[in-house]
Amino acid sequence: MAIDYDQLVQEKKQAIESDVIQTVTYLDQISRLDPVEPFIVRWAKVRPALIELAGAAVAEGKGAPIDIYLINKTAGEHSSSLPTMIIGFRIIPPHGESHRPVRLLTESIEYVIEGNGFTRVNGEQFDWGAKDMIVIPSGAVREYGNANGEPAILFFSHNGGLIRLMNLPETRSFVWEEADDPARFLPGDSRCWESLKEVSGPNVELLPALRISAPAPCRPFLVKWQQSWELLEALLHHPKKEDPRGGKIVGYVYRAKGNLQASAATLVGGYQIIQPGFKGMAHAHSMAAIQLAALGRGYSVTDGRRYEWEEGDILIFPPWCMHEHGTDDLNPAVLFGVLDNPLIRGMRLQRVTELEQGYQEVIEVVS
Ligand SMILES: [Fe+2]
Repeated sequence: MAIDYDQLVQEKKQAIESDVIQTVTYLDQISRLDPVEPFIVRWAKVRPALIELAGAAVAEGKGAPIDIYLINKTAGEHSSSLPTMIIGFRIIPPHGESHRPVRLLTESIEYVIEGNGFTRVNGEQFDWGAKDMIVIPSGAVREYGNANGEPAILFFSHNGGLIRLMNLPETRSFVWEEADDPARFLPGDSRCWESLKEVSGPNVELLPALRISAPAPCRPFLVKWQQSWELLEALLHHPKKEDPRGGKIVGYVYRAKGNLQASAATLVGGYQIIQPGFKGMAHAHSMAAIQLAALGRGYSVTDGRRYEWEEGDILIFPPWCMHEHGTDDLNPAVLFGVLDNPLIRGMRLQRVTELEQGYQEVIEVVS
């Protein structure tokens, strides 16, 4: 009698499966994850709501910063804005302050939309004003304050998407603990270590984990807008032609991260200046990007949808979405940007593709 292998497989699967375990074999069709869609947040629309929130907090005597996340409903089940990133606004009410310092696992690149205040990272204070950029590394203790009579609003972009995807707790201390003393646990006989060394090759080294030191923590830093603006202006007038896709770009990189081109570990932040009439080439990449219009006005086209933007508007570009930026204005425009390049680059997955015909056909203008 011929064996019914379909049934046999079903039986064997059922023997393993429970309310926790599902078995997936090559016989099963696995559907692709739905693509993450781009979105735009209009500053002119969102600002009144944020100011109202600050007013309500003051009326109730609450001065602690309020974080509002911009959750992308198409980004999956882990409540983020992009697969790796969560973006949002932090409103610090007038004379408000964090009620206590917190240590977070996320690394964050923050941009001051309006107001003045400070961020204290591991006790070190950074005083900021409009359009400044602050980098806060993973595991750092942070607190915020605003000594002024007006609310302060920060835009943040942190790698909470990645942290959630990895099922790590965002708000718990997760730092490398003091290393155990190797001498307590490893054999002291040097001959065995010599033998281990001998099996090492040109591309491989066998080392006991206890002797490998933790990566040095990243350092926080602040970049003042005035200095960024002076650099951007110099780049604007520099005779060397801009990047045909992104204009003239500056990234702020933490030196100790080597060639990862990272502001901290997984994200890079910076600005790009787009000269009047610039029409960037359409392209797509494996990295996700967030852009906030820091100055001027322009447009972005993504997947055939054209978004006109002005100062304060925020756009997200999920991995592999086709996009292009430009401006029809007579003045230059500046975009503040955060990308997950270092993470993707570190995994050797950085890929860029260009659209053969140069520009996308606009199928819809999003107002
Ligand atoms: Fe891009």
